[in-house]
Amino acid sequence: MSRTILITGATSSFGRELISRLPSGTRIVAVSRQPLPPEMSNDSEIINVISDLARTDFLNDFDNKIDFSQVDEFVHFAAAPMRMQNFSSNTSEQLLLDYQTNFLSVVALLTKVVATRKQNPRQVRVVLMLTDMLRSAKKGETSYITSKFALLGLVNSLSMEFSGNDLRINAVSPSLVETKYVEHFPEFLRKDISNKHPMKRHCTVAEVIDSVEFLLSPQSSFINGQNIFINGGEN
Ligand SMILES: NC(=O)c1ccc[n+]([C@@H]2O[C@H](COP(=O)([O-])OP(=O)(O)OC[C@H]3O[C@@H](n4cnc5c(N)ncnc54)[C@H](OP(=O)(O)O)[C@@H]3O)[C@@H](O)[C@H]2O)c1
Repeated sequence: MSRTILITGATSSFGRELISRLPSGTRIVAVSRQPLPPEMSNDSEIINVISDLARTDFLNDFDNKIDFSQVDEFVHFAAAPMRMQNFSSNTSEQLLLDYQTNFLSVVALLTKVVATRKQNPRQVRVVLMLTDMLRSAKKGETSYITSKFALLGLVNSLSMEFSGNDLRINAVSPSLVETKYVEHFPEFLRKDISNKHPMKRHCTVAEVIDSVEFLLSPQSSFINGQNIFINGGEN
């Protein structure tokens, strides 16, 4: 039976990799701020919802585009850019925008999906993207790290509230991966991080998506409420 997967941050390196691996026949709801680039939008199974998740009314963009009762899987990759900004120079408006994109949008989307379970009972599988910084925070990233902790709280609490037969929710927490997201890190810093790593390299996009695929698959049917650190043993 074909599955429907909702992916936020579809244009991210992780989103692209996951979409490229999905078997044909999978219905993909790809959420992005800009229309998908032509190489991604060729697939007739992709419904592109163009939406800025930082807006509190972003759900309006989904109206008449998707049927939440058909969503079997939900993967959240979207995150506001990291700020590298001291706590004292954060404004509450900025924090709220980050929380809206990183965390509150997930709550809103999951609420919609879960509300359709009576109409269409099924197991919904959810994977959220966290960060290895949950283990060792870096300074200047208060809104990023606190919003990722909020997502971890969601994983913990929903795995208690729902049976794993109804909703299976897990997370992955990678260490540094060379993507657009960390382009603003100075090169010397990125090199320093890999030199100090026990495996002398960064994690790859493919290694992260291997775990995301596993958590969505029947091979992880008894795994619920977990957060997998993908950090090459850098503990
Ligand atoms: N790279 C790393 O080292 C690393 C490590 C751990 C975790 N992560 C996590 O990986 C994810 C980022 O993926 P990436 O590394 O591939 O970087 P990326 O390409 O910069 O991805 C960020 C994604 O978030 C989307 N996004 C940002 N603000 C948005 C908004 N207001 N509304 C809708 N979408 C929005 C972006 O959409 P646009 O294309 O429209 O900008 C993009 O698809 C984040 O969740 C991040 O926390 C990354």
